[in-house]
Amino acid sequence: MGKLDGRVAIVTGGGRGIGAEVAKTFAAEGAAVVVNDLGASMDGSATEGTPAEEVTEQIRKAGGKASANNCDVTSFAQTAGLVAQAVKDFGRLDIVVNVAGIIRDGMIFKMEEKQWDAVIAVHLKGTFNTSRHASVYWRENRGGEYRLIHFISGSGLWGAPAQPNYAAAKMGMVGLSNSCATALASYGVTSNCIAPVAYTRMTASLEGKSTTMDYSPGNEKLSTRNVVPPVVWLASEQSSWMTGRIIQCGNGRIGLISEPRVEREVTTPGVWDLDNAFEEMNSTFKDAVESPNPFRKAKG
Ligand SMILES: NC(=O)c1ccc[n+]([C@@H]2O[C@H](COP(=O)([O-])OP(=O)(O)OC[C@H]3O[C@@H](n4cnc5c(N)ncnc54)[C@H](O)[C@@H]3O)[C@@H](O)[C@H]2O)c1
Repeated sequence: MGKLDGRVAIVTGGGRGIGAEVAKTFAAEGAAVVVNDLGASMDGSATEGTPAEEVTEQIRKAGGKASANNCDVTSFAQTAGLVAQAVKDFGRLDIVVNVAGIIRDGMIFKMEEKQWDAVIAVHLKGTFNTSRHASVYWRENRGGEYRLIHFISGSGLWGAPAQPNYAAAKMGMVGLSNSCATALASYGVTSNCIAPVAYTRMTASLEGKSTTMDYSPGNEKLSTRNVVPPVVWLASEQSSWMTGRIIQCGNGRIGLISEPRVEREVTTPGVWDLDNAFEEMNSTFKDAVESPNPFRKAKG
């Protein structure tokens, strides 16, 4: 018995890296998988190879069910076809995993408009596109255990300095996921995010540079295999009690990120006087703002 027997999944960006690992594991656990990938270069400026076809072939050779799709997730029209393909090829759709991604790094003061637009388009609009089309299908076919799973990043959670576009896109996906979690609960859909870490082409440039992580192909703990278990769990019927949350995973760890909460609060019975608000905030908030954030150091 597989953990995903009889379920049908779309995995965007399923041709390489983490997406390929997710697609192959889903198939090994009994799901039929539409492997979407257009073979983008890491910055999305070119296409190369046929990774979706290769992963599909590997799944089939191993006895699993898969079909390849080459659509660009930034296209609203093409992603409608992606959802239709899952239903046409395998009779239904239960799970959408939004993994497709590119990076075009640069500090905020040097970032070009096209760097911003390209990254927002793949991560944020791409995630909207697939989620939107899948939600129409799920609303018309109630009674299932449906899943949206979105790949976000610690880059947005903690604020990587050279990735304003990527960080913003990923945190936009968190807002989108939270909105879907509340909007689609009555249709049997959960929506959660995964913030992974793994050694792939996207992190290969960090080899020998990180003080916190051993990014190297030989480090098994940073294998894409260590990202997949919580993704399979979210995709399974066992995770119906969790929605609107973020799981951080990789390097042998699986963590549940906390919900945003009001940490400290000052109040006034009427309308704030500015001096009073300054004083209350300085005295009440400052010692709460000490941050374990690896990137951020505020002055003062
Ligand atoms: N590797 C990490 O440590 C890490 C950390 C944080 C977040 N992530 C996120 O996890 C996901 C997977 O990352 P990865 O490291 O496996 O990257 P990867 O570059 O190995 O794979 C990304 C895949 O997405 C595909 N893709 C890009 N644009 C596309 C488009 N418009 N339409 C369809 N497919 C497209 C690419 O062709 C590629 O195969 C990404 O969303 C990434 O941002 C990765």
